[in-house]
Amino acid sequence: MSYFDRLDHYELLKLDTEGFPAPRELPAGYEWAADIGVEAERALLDPVFPGSHNATERRLAGWRDDTIVAVAHGGEPVAVCYVCADNQLGIEGYGELHYAAVLDEHKGKGLWGAMIREMLRRAKAWGDVRGVIFVTDRKGPIEMYLRMGAQRIGTRPKGDARPLWRRAASRARRIVGGR
Ligand SMILES: CC(C)(COP(=O)(O)OP(=O)(O)OC[C@H]1O[C@@H](n2cnc3c(N)ncnc32)[C@H](O)[C@@H]1OP(=O)(O)O)[C@@H](O)C(=O)NCCC(=O)NCCS
Repeated sequence: MSYFDRLDHYELLKLDTEGFPAPRELPAGYEWAADIGVEAERALLDPVFPGSHNATERRLAGWRDDTIVAVAHGGEPVAVCYVCADNQLGIEGYGELHYAAVLDEHKGKGLWGAMIREMLRRAKAWGDVRGVIFVTDRKGPIEMYLRMGAQRIGTRPKGDARPLWRRAASRARRIVGGR
């Protein structure tokens, strides 16, 4: 069962590349890491996203060479997220952001904010997506994304089953102007 299938409630949001927040420098001592390795990815993801193997098994739709957005400190991976050129709902023209995670001792330093800006920069550079959607069940992060300019495009209330999820998906497709 994937992480996503475990959610009994989710919100669907989107961030457009048009007018996306300008890239932000990483704090001193941190650097972008091209490939942190699957073991390090698991160490970051497992505690906060049980069942997120679709990322480390490279089974996310629209995987690109620069899908992994990662940050290291002193050569050690401390944060990761994934940006893909397609999304799991079939919303045309949109990629998807998956699983942003920052190690506890590196939280609160702006790493998430820097990663989100960097992943949008990459998505824009691909030239074939208008933005990214993302799915989350977490209240705090939803507020963070909304403050950054994300828009809500759908929800699935607690207790609803697959059929509603599908309705939410087609509603989202209409809202973002896809097929
Ligand atoms: C959520 C998470 C990625 C934030 O990482 P971070 O690097 O500490 O975030 P930043 O330092 O970039 O903070 C960005 C802003 O969001 C705020 N913020 C951070 N965590 C927050 C939370 N859980 N709820 C609400 N606001 C939060 C910060 O105060 C900051 O606000 P500011 O710009 O006004 O100062 C990190 O706490 C984490 O890995 N959590 C577990 C996994 C998770 O929930 N990921 C998101 C799922 S969609």
